[in-house]
Amino acid sequence: MPGSAFPPPSPDSPPETPRSGITRRGFLKGAGITAASTALLEGVQTLRADAESEATPGVTEFGPGADSVRLHVNGAEHVLDIEPRTTLADALRLHLGLTGSKIVCDRGVCSGCTVWLDKIPVNSCMTLAIDAIGHHITTIEGLSSESEPHPVQAAFVRHDAMQCGYCTPGMVMSCAALLERNPHPTEHDIRHAVSGNLCRCGTYPKVFAATLDAAGSRRA
Ligand code: FES
Ligand code: FES
Repeated sequence: MPGSAFPPPSPDSPPETPRSGITRRGFLKGAGITAASTALLEGVQTLRADAESEATPGVTEFGPGADSVRLHVNGAEHVLDIEPRTTLADALRLHLGLTGSKIVCDRGVCSGCTVWLDKIPVNSCMTLAIDAIGHHITTIEGLSSESEPHPVQAAFVRHDAMQCGYCTPGMVMSCAALLERNPHPTEHDIRHAVSGNLCRCGTYPKVFAATLDAAGSRRA
């Protein structure tokens, strides 16, 4: 081959395999992969260092292990030792023994786990306990006073608005929250308020009647 320092390989020549077992092509590929891996690793380490040094002022960081978390539940302060992944439902039921709120679907579908955050009904199975810090949490246990039930609870009893009872705490919390923001609801308002509360026993007509009754007794 004119101008080439090396003669062309003869068809009978064995493939290029040095005695070390490493070919030039293999060495270059390996070196390239090593360099790319090193650069990637350095990049990840830099990003991690940046994230650690960029803690937002005024923002409390939790985890990954358990931390002390202060929750205001039913008028009392509680300090719980929980991991940041703990849901509010688990914090209430497992750590505080407030088992009135029911975990039924555990995925935000049925509202059996409804509690209030500052009187707004939320699905506690879909709320992290750490997101409830600084809010007033009310559970079904905190709805009534020691001496008498909440008017919605009393009306549910009068109207026998339950069968198995699994949905009932969530239903009551949703209906009572409605009366907090709308003391004179129509049946349409009640239907809308419990539209996320699933009752497989089909007690809805009695839930509507009980809530209308409770609104009337509150007016009296
Ligand atoms: S248990 Fe929370 S929405 Fe069903
Ligand atoms: S009373 Fe049974 S699910 Fe509602």
